[in-house]
Amino acid sequence: MRQRLVIGLTGNIATGKSEVGRILAGLGAHVIDADRVAHDAIRPGEPPFDAVVCAFGPGIVAPNGTIDRAKLGAIVFRDRAALQRLEAIVHPTVTAEVDRQIAQVREGVVVVEAIKLIETGMHRPYDELWVVTAPRAVQIARLVETRGLSGEEAALRVDAQSPQEAKAAQADRIIENHGDFEQLHRKVEAAWAQLLEEPVTIRAARRGDLGDAAGIAAVLNSVIAERRYTAMAGHWTAEAEQAYLDGLRRRSEVFVAEAAGGIVGLQSIAPFVSYPSNMDHVAEFGTFILADYRGRGIGHGLAEASLRFTRTHGYEKVVVFVLADNPVGLAYYRSLGFEERGTLQRQTKIDGVYHDEVILEMHL
Ligand SMILES: CC(C)(COP(=O)(O)OP(=O)(O)OC[C@H]1O[C@@H](n2cnc3c(N)ncnc32)[C@H](O)[C@@H]1OP(=O)(O)O)[C@@H](O)C(=O)NCCC(=O)NCCS
Repeated sequence: MRQRLVIGLTGNIATGKSEVGRILAGLGAHVIDADRVAHDAIRPGEPPFDAVVCAFGPGIVAPNGTIDRAKLGAIVFRDRAALQRLEAIVHPTVTAEVDRQIAQVREGVVVVEAIKLIETGMHRPYDELWVVTAPRAVQIARLVETRGLSGEEAALRVDAQSPQEAKAAQADRIIENHGDFEQLHRKVEAAWAQLLEEPVTIRAARRGDLGDAAGIAAVLNSVIAERRYTAMAGHWTAEAEQAYLDGLRRRSEVFVAEAAGGIVGLQSIAPFVSYPSNMDHVAEFGTFILADYRGRGIGHGLAEASLRFTRTHGYEKVVVFVLADNPVGLAYYRSLGFEERGTLQRQTKIDGVYHDEVILEMHL
């Protein structure tokens, strides 16, 4: 593991975000509650205090000299512009304080928990973004139960927030919290274990070993099931993959990435065409990584091994075909130095729909 790993943790109201924060703290994470930092930022004597009073009037100051949060809330939750003004005052102080607290942790996992983590862009420099989600009905039921709201009031609060789906779409890890506490605990523990797992190792797949074949088939089937990255359909069995591995010729190879004892990604290298022989200098790659393991450098690691292999096996050029509507796949190959050579219109079919494919190549 790296010396310090920073996770941004967010989730809409009553999804269980704070519960996840507490579980992570119990597992050994250093948890920073950015919402609490925001509360503290407007205490008398802190620089934002005067700015907030100046913006919203002395009427928001309680008799004891502190800001009356209920009064301030009544203003800003009815008026979008007012809320933006408040956030513009408080946010820079919160970010600076959270950054200061992160910097104090030298080693281990830091979790920054905040309701508006994504909206404020605070999560961007962090290593991972975790989003806790819950079905709307569960959110409402929890609010009714724990805060004594009516069903209608609860629904209003739930619907006032930006949609969970948009947040989840940006997440590295989604914690779905629709069950009981025990289930939530197990999910968070599993995610934590994955985070701390041993480093990824990359090696060539063993031929004549069903273990690798089963692991490779599982990765392929998982990416096929996503129905958006490959025109491959159907289901790979371990036996079919074993036959493929056993049939590999001298100039073909499959490199696999292993984490936590299992195969999580692979890259295949094969001659672009085996006939005619004037194409012997061209290799083709295929890359498949389990969704949970993307964006962690595994693709780069595999390519290092594959490019070494191509260079030592007489290839001079590598080509790949990537679906035109797969921006991450295109970005990946461009990051390796591949260049686009053109688009093949309606080249491949997924679920009966034609897709364009981009051809990219790299000279070795
Ligand atoms: C495409 C894929 C192989 C990339 O592997 P990966 O392990 O996630 O990639 P890495 O973490 O090594 O990142 C390598 C580069 O890919 C690009 N990349 C990776 N994740 C990205 C994302 N979410 N958004 C944009 N670019 C991304 C970046 O350019 C990155 O380089 P950088 O770290 O210098 O910015 C992987 O996402 C995957 O298996 N996708 C599904 C199958 C597929 O699309 N295969 C490729 C087409 S056949």
